[in-house]
Amino acid sequence: TDPALIRNFCIIAHIDHGKSTLADRMLQLSGIVEDRQMRAQYLDRMDIERERGITIKSQAVRLPFTALDDTTYVLNLIDTPGHVDFTYEVSRSLAACEGAILLVDAAQGIEAQTLANLYLALEHDLQIIPVLNKIDLPAAMPDKYAAELAGIIGCEPTDVLRVSAKTGMGVEELLNEIVRQVPPPVGEADSPPRAMIFDSIYDTYRGVVTYVRVVDGHLGTRQRIEMMSTGATHEMLEVGVISPEPRKVDGLGVGEVGYIITGVKDVRQSRVGDTITAASGGASEMLPGYQDPKPMVFSGLYPLDGSDYPVLRDALEKLQLNDAALTFEPETSAALGFGFRCGFLGLLHLEITRARLEREFNLELISTAPNVVYRVVMEDHTEHWVTNPSEFPEGKIAEVHEPIVKGTLLAPSEFVGPIMELCQARRGSLDGMDYLSEDRVEMRYTLPLAEIVFDFFDQLKSRTKGFASLDYEPSGDQVADLVKVDILLQGEMVDAFSAVVHRDKAYAYGVEMTKKLRELIPRQQFEVPVQAAVGSRVIARENIRAIRKDVLSKCYGGDISRKRKLLEKQKEGKRKMKMVGRVEVPQEAFISALSTE
Ligand code: GTP
Repeated sequence: TDPALIRNFCIIAHIDHGKSTLADRMLQLSGIVEDRQMRAQYLDRMDIERERGITIKSQAVRLPFTALDDTTYVLNLIDTPGHVDFTYEVSRSLAACEGAILLVDAAQGIEAQTLANLYLALEHDLQIIPVLNKIDLPAAMPDKYAAELAGIIGCEPTDVLRVSAKTGMGVEELLNEIVRQVPPPVGEADSPPRAMIFDSIYDTYRGVVTYVRVVDGHLGTRQRIEMMSTGATHEMLEVGVISPEPRKVDGLGVGEVGYIITGVKDVRQSRVGDTITAASGGASEMLPGYQDPKPMVFSGLYPLDGSDYPVLRDALEKLQLNDAALTFEPETSAALGFGFRCGFLGLLHLEITRARLEREFNLELISTAPNVVYRVVMEDHTEHWVTNPSEFPEGKIAEVHEPIVKGTLLAPSEFVGPIMELCQARRGSLDGMDYLSEDRVEMRYTLPLAEIVFDFFDQLKSRTKGFASLDYEPSGDQVADLVKVDILLQGEMVDAFSAVVHRDKAYAYGVEMTKKLRELIPRQQFEVPVQAAVGSRVIARENIRAIRKDVLSKCYGGDISRKRKLLEKQKEGKRKMKMVGRVEVPQEAFISALSTE
């Protein structure tokens, strides 16, 4: 295709603002999906995405469209993942486009996540087309939000398009505006090929399907290609486009978007952001922006039933085929047994992975509280990367570094006070604040990631009646006064409860955990002290008083069947006990203590 006739664009939108509905409507208008075949949510394929209503993996679809000038253009709609954990993947999808539709629900206004992705799109110099969706809704306030959008991107309110993805109103005009406003791709047709990978998906039948945007030159079938980040070479088995089903083509030229299949079986061999070139006579310079996936949040995952350990390992290996960012290493915990320390991009990534393990592999899991990665520099200048708080080094520590993020918060202005209080309590510093309209404010904070992974979202929602939204991106690290708090049962450390916290919060954490455990652990034959300690210094203590366990005394009278039942119950309970030193702890107690309600 002549690059002059190509338009590559994506849709930036908050969850539920109608991205999938709009995409479906565009497919329908382009005539590639017949009305009666029109499946709702064509672009969202994974079940879990549909269930949770989020798009994790981006894909691309080619739409032929005859514009007002009677010319038929090729529009490539590149789907972007919509969540904070996937900023890097979003940035790669954006880098494959020249334009972006900023889609905002006309009854809701813009959200923090959309705003953060808009900033990303502006950094990539994309042409932004502001669009209000759902104008058919009685609650829509298009004038108000058109003014807001105009203020944010610096255009006239009349430049903001108004559509209803549901009824189709305004969607054809939108496609014409895409043709008019989004610049066609430019590249060197005669140079060695360079194509950027913006997505990579594992398919059970085909192996890895890699989505690419060709920048220079031409990629053809049966060509040997090289992955420039690693130098690995592969044979190209198939090149194609999605329209809306996969269709083979002979090759892809400048500005074109499609997929390739090389037979590799693991997405880590075909990484998002990498540059593909020819194996011989290839390009010498990679396209900019490649990063190795870097897990930001770690958690220990343990099977509830120890004999499921091999199942868990297999399951993690399977998930990794399709998830280059997931990492795991075997780990043993005195309290929880055999499991894995897993690394994730963020909390949602963790939650999705855990849900998939439980659902697709029928596993029951316990996970330790999520933690970030600390870089600990000792006085003798040696360095430790700590992904498990119980492995925080002892001894002479010079500096502890923790990851920080730049957060964007959006909320009705009445909540500025509560948000500031929360962010202050979470060691945040305010970088700036703007009123988007009279009653909506954007606040920008630098915050330690550790404070966000610890129930920040819940706190934010409850303090703002659910009205505030937050988005963040990694922003390096900072030195902080952090200490490890250990929890001890009768003098024995319970590794699963060790936490790295700011010195000012160590006491509060210690008190909370010891209280929780005192309530959760049943009395034993002897008194059990529950202590929290920083190093060798005890900062909080509770006692579980001794009791002679005589369950049968509860059964006054001679109801023998009831007695038997109780005995059996007790036996069952015993089986699920873990020993910490001499103390019997029911597994339930660990689970409850680890869950952050
Ligand atoms: P995710 O896939 O979760 O990111 O959401 P999305 O942004 O793709 O939103 P989706 O298209 O699933 O739409 C969310 C809801 O809004 C659905 O119930 C749609 O039917 C509804 N919706 C989308 N567009 C319109 C519209 O123009 N008018 C009305 N009334 N409802 C709409």
